[in-house]
Amino acid sequence: MNIIIVKNYNDMSRKAAHLFVGQILQKPDSVLGLATGSTPVGLYTELIKFYKEGMIDFNDVQAFNLDEYLELKPSHEQSYAYFMQKNLFEHINIRPENYHIPSGTANYQEKECERYEALIAEAGGIDLQILGIGRNGHIGFNEPDIKFEAITHVVQLDEQTINDNARFFDNIDDVPKTAISMGIKTIMQSRGIILLASGIEKADAVAGMIGGKITPELPASVLQLHPNVTIIVDEAAASKIPSKNI
Ligand code: F6R
Repeated sequence: MNIIIVKNYNDMSRKAAHLFVGQILQKPDSVLGLATGSTPVGLYTELIKFYKEGMIDFNDVQAFNLDEYLELKPSHEQSYAYFMQKNLFEHINIRPENYHIPSGTANYQEKECERYEALIAEAGGIDLQILGIGRNGHIGFNEPDIKFEAITHVVQLDEQTINDNARFFDNIDDVPKTAISMGIKTIMQSRGIILLASGIEKADAVAGMIGGKITPELPASVLQLHPNVTIIVDEAAASKIPSKNI
């Protein structure tokens, strides 16, 4: 694991954006794995700036999002499809046929998972995957005790995840309890991974991911086994990493 500790959220976002820009310059038809939530918003803002300055072109880029809530239509303001439009896609020249998010409203959810996994394989796999981390150590929506062999599948969200996501909804009862998520195996098949974490509330999960035992109880700990992972964390999120690991 390549661990980069930066001062704050903005520095984390800029550093991650530089790595993404490098990836796209090196391979203009890169397949990117994208995430939602608060963590990557600054990265997306930086990427939009680089695009507007003419430094990168998304015309040949393909993108696959990690996850989507079940039962939210893409037009729902809290769906991840809506989030991606507002925070990235509508500001850049990525082609609509080139970005993919699991459908939360597909009639046959298992079939949708198979379709999504096959689409990633058809694209040649993911070159660079961005990840956030949940306070419980989840990546994507792979909650504690997930099987490391899981591919894209339907997940029940953890109580902690539902509570954490309640901040985006008017009422905690409105937070979806289920989602479709790439599995740990799907994520581990990415050729490169960048995980971002900011803030003291992520410090325990980050410390466990880097310095703890590799265990499904802390899904992100599996990243210790990936040959090309860069962890970019701000000082608060890094504050509990054992010194032997830095
Ligand atoms: C989002 C995702 C989640 C988030 C994680 C952290 O697509 O898959 O794993 O990355 O829940 O969320 P934030 O960034 O809101 O703290």
